[in-house]
Amino acid sequence: MSSNDQSSPAVRPWESAQPLAAGHTGAATGVNICVVGGGFVGLVAAAGFAQFGHNVVCVEKNLERLAQLKESRVPFFERDLEELLRRNTEAGRLSFSSDLKEAIVGQKVIFLAVGTPSLDNGRTDLSALVEIVNLLGKVAEDGQIVVLKSTVPVGTGIWLQKKFPQNGNGSRSISVVNNPEFLREGSAVYDFFYPQRIVVGGDNQAAVEFVANLYRVGMTRPVPIVTTNNETAEMIKYAANAFLAMKVGFINEVAGLCDLVGIDVLEIARGIGMDPRIGAEFLNPGPGWGGSCFRKDLREFSGLAKAHDYPLIIAEAVLKANQRQHELVAAKIERLTGSLEKARIGVLGLSFKAGTSDMRDSPAIPIVQRLLEKGAEVVAYDPQAHTEAEHYLPTIELAENAVEAARDADCLVILTEWEEFQALDLRSISEVMRKPNLVDARNLLTPEVVRRYGLTYEGMGQK
Ligand code: UDX
Repeated sequence: MSSNDQSSPAVRPWESAQPLAAGHTGAATGVNICVVGGGFVGLVAAAGFAQFGHNVVCVEKNLERLAQLKESRVPFFERDLEELLRRNTEAGRLSFSSDLKEAIVGQKVIFLAVGTPSLDNGRTDLSALVEIVNLLGKVAEDGQIVVLKSTVPVGTGIWLQKKFPQNGNGSRSISVVNNPEFLREGSAVYDFFYPQRIVVGGDNQAAVEFVANLYRVGMTRPVPIVTTNNETAEMIKYAANAFLAMKVGFINEVAGLCDLVGIDVLEIARGIGMDPRIGAEFLNPGPGWGGSCFRKDLREFSGLAKAHDYPLIIAEAVLKANQRQHELVAAKIERLTGSLEKARIGVLGLSFKAGTSDMRDSPAIPIVQRLLEKGAEVVAYDPQAHTEAEHYLPTIELAENAVEAARDADCLVILTEWEEFQALDLRSISEVMRKPNLVDARNLLTPEVVRRYGLTYEGMGQK
């Protein structure tokens, strides 16, 4: 279970406890903060800092999105985020603007939370960041702290620091600090208020401490704060995501072997996860990891290593193993249907994981594409991601609910672990399907229960 489950819908993450007294932490509220970028990372940070009592202006240059944000509407699904925006906008601590030049006047801290997507060669596209940095170079004020919140290649902090003028004593008039985020989509608001740790890196100790205090003032329980230099903070982020992707990739590989030798991977995960050196989280086999970070970060990490003539053997294998996982899921479906040619496949779940409408690098994309290539017809249902599906998988049919996705299907496949799929109406599903096959790529259902409805069940590495 993720820690997200600890926050029931009735108790919002920011309401469950009183913040530690400001005096206790030596930190102050009411700091003027500018957050550049109204995407997932920027919005959670902006709303979270406002909730801590700071004064936040969030800069978003897309005017359509800006208009939505001013009305506390978030253009993607993220639990609790709209409410947090609305509360803080109404309280006068959070506002939105498209004018970066004006928005940074008088701010103490400027968080940069713009997108840093992958280039075709796997390295990172810093063009959005460079555009802002060019402006900051001209207009940033002495004493301001510029914080890199976006995931940026190792060395970006030091590069950015050099853009700002040097004082007589060699110090810089503007300090650059790295503060990578570790928020999980779907539970990002919860993670902001209950982080496992906060990483702050920079050369100027006072600036590092200042940024750490922005969090300390709002934390409801003591949180470890790792203070370090810029490049270490940058690499912590890459190493964390590479490790998590490796962990999921590992259990996926073990699940594949379990399928072949008839052993239950869930018991293996339980048996190894109890060892604190391994840990129980991120041991759920699935159709392959996805999302906006893992692949992008693994590729940049490998690219950095290659540039130093030191290929990352493990990280590259993790990328390759994830592709095989997509092929394995498609092969399971093909095995059950006999042939994919003209088969109708119902897909439940398109987002890369539950709790988000995000389809970036979702395993559903390559799996569905493979089915389509082999001549199948695909009809899918996702509780949140239909708008995204029209973009990523424009040729598939979208159904209104799970039963409709199953209608006349030769196989139904669960790709995302949405809660509502745990309570599928299996009776109706078994009645409307052409052939009663179910591939549960998230091991969400109990095989015996599914089989009771006459369906052939196949999970991931389940005996
Ligand atoms: C991740 C990191 O967790 C976060 O710290 C970082 O800031 C951004 O990247 P996120 O992309 O939201 O967060 O997703 P995460 O919850 O980490 O899951 C990543 C992928 O692994 C998903 O596709 C998920 O379905 C998959 N996964 C995760 C599994 O298949 N099994 C697991 O046990 C855990």
